[in-house]
Amino acid sequence: MSSVRGEFSSRIGFIMAAAGSAVGLGNIWGFPTQTASNGGAAFVLAYLVLAFCLAYPALMAELIVGRHGQANAVKSLQKISKTKAQKAGAFAVGFGGIICAGLILSFYSIVAGWMMTATLEPVAQVASQDTVANWLSTQSLSRDLVFTAAFILLTVAIISRGIENGIEKWSKRLMPALLTILFALIVYVFMQEGAMKGLKAYLVPDFSLILEPKLLISALGQAFFSLSLGTSVMIIYGSYISKKENIVALGTYVTLIDVFIAFVAGLLIIPAMYVAQELGVQIFSETGQLLSEDTLVFTVLPALFDSMGDIGLFIGFAFFALMTIAALTSSISLLEAPVSYVVEQFGLTRMQATFGMGAIITLVSFTILFNFSSLFGFVIALTTQYGQPLLGLMCCLFVGWLWNRTSLLKEIEQGSPEIGATFFWKIWPWYIKFVCPIAISLVFLSKIIDW
Ligand code: PHE
Repeated sequence: MSSVRGEFSSRIGFIMAAAGSAVGLGNIWGFPTQTASNGGAAFVLAYLVLAFCLAYPALMAELIVGRHGQANAVKSLQKISKTKAQKAGAFAVGFGGIICAGLILSFYSIVAGWMMTATLEPVAQVASQDTVANWLSTQSLSRDLVFTAAFILLTVAIISRGIENGIEKWSKRLMPALLTILFALIVYVFMQEGAMKGLKAYLVPDFSLILEPKLLISALGQAFFSLSLGTSVMIIYGSYISKKENIVALGTYVTLIDVFIAFVAGLLIIPAMYVAQELGVQIFSETGQLLSEDTLVFTVLPALFDSMGDIGLFIGFAFFALMTIAALTSSISLLEAPVSYVVEQFGLTRMQATFGMGAIITLVSFTILFNFSSLFGFVIALTTQYGQPLLGLMCCLFVGWLWNRTSLLKEIEQGSPEIGATFFWKIWPWYIKFVCPIAISLVFLSKIIDW
C-alpha cells in the first residue's frame, strides 16, 4: 500500500505544506480581527500560551496517528483501536473529520472567492474596465457563484497533481510569496500616520482582561482552527511523512510558523486599522465596539487603500492576493482529506476522486450561496465551534487512552531515537491524556451554554 501512496519528498516540503494548511484566512483575517475585538494585546498573550500549551500537543497527536497509520484518517485511527466498539468510534471520528473538512472547504471557498474578486477589482480599474470593476466590487449571486467555482477549480487543479507535484510544489511556491507580500505591506503601513497607536494597542497588554473566560475561549478556538485540528487534515499530512523524519521537530516548526504568521498579520492589520481611522474611516461603532470582521476587511481596508491614491490600487491588489494565496494553501489540505479517503477506500484514481469531490464541494457551496442567510453562519458554527473541538478532543482521547504507551513511544522514536529522554516525552503524554481533553471540553461546553 505504502508504495502507491505519495509522500512528501523533503522535510521542507512537508513543513511548507503543513504550515500552508495552518496559515490561512484564520491567521490573516481571523486572528487580527479577534485580537481587535477581544482586548488587543491581552488576547495575543493568551493566544500564544494556549497555542503552544494546548493546540501544539493536539497537533502532535494527529500527526503521529497519521504517520503510524500510513493511511487516511479512518484507517489510521482504526489501526490504534483494538475492540469492535473502538473501531466503530475510529470510523466516526475519522469520517466525521473528513465531512468537517469538506464543509469547511465549502464556506472557505466562498470567502476565498470574495478575496479573488477584491484582488481583481484594482486590476479592472487600472485597465479602465469600469463595468467589470463595479461588478467585482458589488455583492451579487452571479459574482459569488463564478468566483467560488473558480477557487474550487484552482484547488482541484493542484490536488489532482498529487502530493509531491501538487501540494508540495505549490506550497513551496506560494508560502514564500505570501511572506514577501506580508512584510512589504507591513513596511508600508508602518510609515503611515497612526500606525504607532495601533502598534501600541497590539503589543501592550491590559493584564486585567487576560483571565476573562470569553477571551480565553475565543483564543483556544482560534488556535484550533488555525492549526487545522479536528478535521483529519493533519492526520493525512502526518501519513505522508517519512518514518525517517523527526516528527516532533516537524510539528514544532509548523506550530512556530503558524503562530509567527498570525502574529505578523496582526502587525499589519491592527496598525492598518488605526491608519484608516487617522484618515477619517470609521473603525469603531457609536457604542465603542469594533466594527464586525467582514466590515473591517471589506470596507475599512479598501477605504484605506482608496485614500492612498494610485498606489492604493497596487497595495489593495497585493493585500487581497495575499489573502487568496493563504486561502489556497489551506484549501488544498481541506480537499486532500476527502480525496485521500476515496482513493484509498474505493480504489478511484486521484484524478477521478479529485474532480468528483470538487464537484460535490461546489454543489454544497452553491447550496450555501443560494440559502446564504440561513446556511452560511450555520455551517461555520457547526464545523468550527462544534465539529473541530469535538473531533480534536476525540483524537486526543484515542492517542492518550487507547494507544499503548510503549508502541506510541516506538512510533515517535522512528526518526528521533533520543525522544524518550526528552522533556517532550515526559510531559506530552499527560497533556494528551488529561490537559487537552479537559480544556477542549471547556471550550466546547462554553459554546453550548454560550458563556
Ligand atoms: N487553518 C486554516 C486557517 O487558518 C483553516 C483550516 C482549518 C484549514 C481546518 C484546514 C483545516 O485559515
